[in-house]
Amino acid sequence: MASIKVEPFSHEFVCEDGETLLEGALRNGLLLKYGCKHGGCGTCKVRLVDGDVAEQGPTFALSAEDQANDLILPCSSIPLEPCVIDVETSGLTEDEFFSGDTSRGYDAVLGRFEVVAGDIARVRLDLGDDEIAFTAGQFVNVEVPGTGLLRTFSLANCPADSSVVELICKQYTDGLFARFLRDADLGTPIRLFGPYGSLKVHLSHRPIIMIAGGSGLAPLLSMLRDLAAKGSDRSVTLYFGARSEGHLYALDDITDIGCRLPDFEFVPVLSESWSPNWTGETGMVIDAILRRHTTLAHDVYLCGPPPMIDGATPLLLERGVRQRNIYYDAFTPATQTVPS
Ligand SMILES: Cc1cc2nc3c(=O)[nH]c(=O)nc-3n(C[C@H](O)[C@H](O)[C@H](O)COP(=O)(O)OP(=O)(O)OC[C@H]3O[C@@H](n4cnc5c(N)ncnc54)[C@H](O)[C@@H]3O)c2cc1C
Ligand code: FES
Repeated sequence: MASIKVEPFSHEFVCEDGETLLEGALRNGLLLKYGCKHGGCGTCKVRLVDGDVAEQGPTFALSAEDQANDLILPCSSIPLEPCVIDVETSGLTEDEFFSGDTSRGYDAVLGRFEVVAGDIARVRLDLGDDEIAFTAGQFVNVEVPGTGLLRTFSLANCPADSSVVELICKQYTDGLFARFLRDADLGTPIRLFGPYGSLKVHLSHRPIIMIAGGSGLAPLLSMLRDLAAKGSDRSVTLYFGARSEGHLYALDDITDIGCRLPDFEFVPVLSESWSPNWTGETGMVIDAILRRHTTLAHDVYLCGPPPMIDGATPLLLERGVRQRNIYYDAFTPATQTVPS
């Protein structure tokens, strides 16, 4: 057993032998933010102020910089002695901490599956009479029917549309969920869990840059729809990286958002091929951003493949963005996770 003190709430709980910090907190009716529970998403990152932990299982989500700053993943950390952790990095509020885990399971049915561009499919899961309360930017874990395995996808709908879960899913040829979707009939039952994750639009006076790579548009679309629904007057520029014009999608949704947000710009960036008529940006998204802004004092939200996020972050910092104003979800591959 090890006692764990959680700052800044000055609250202590006890972890049983062999329990991770996350398991201990949840068993004690407390919440630490989490998503994948297997070291892949980074949602649960907290700072280890005192004590020592053993890492158990994968820790993909922990960069060398995180480790240098004493960040750990409670979902993969077993305390070896009494510890003090600081949860401020995870954005957890005192109310959320003491309210415990409010995520739960939902029984949905497949309401839409449509390949809309290249290897991107738009999916709608209908919740019937049930409703999901979530913050724009969060994600769900979907149980692939017949396998007991979970796959993580960001919600793309506006939180006000709470009776559906809209997803944007990259279709990997050998993907477990991708294969299920290709063969499934509309109306097939699907169980999902959530909502999880701490990505959200942060209040500030700074203009916003959003950077989407491929299916990384999903949480940003939800955030944009939410900003539009709430009548926000924030300045937002959406950079959308795709291989070619044929890989761009959701253009009607983006046009609609542009009509509803007073200060919105959409910048598609094509990396591989484009027609002679294309007058827009080409190359890597980050290069387009650097061409268009000599200095940056923005809040920046990035979603998509980890190399896109890892490549863009140092260049954004060099151009003046503060580390604390960069928010992201890296779309890491799943490991074989069974629901608990
Ligand atoms: C917080 C979070 C949010 C996410 N949101 C989305 C989302 O909105 N839309 C979306 O499309 N994906 C999203 N992902 C990524 C998605 O969960 C994984 O890509 C998942 O593995 C896809 O499941 P699958 O069953 O189709 O393929 P799998 O059966 O898991 O994988 C099939 C093959 O493709 C490879 N592969 C799978 N995913 C990736 C990847 N991301 N990068 C490189 N290779 C990969 C695997 O290694 C394997 O060889 C998110 C991930 C995280 C952590
Ligand atoms: S919940 Fe810990 S890394 Fe995903």
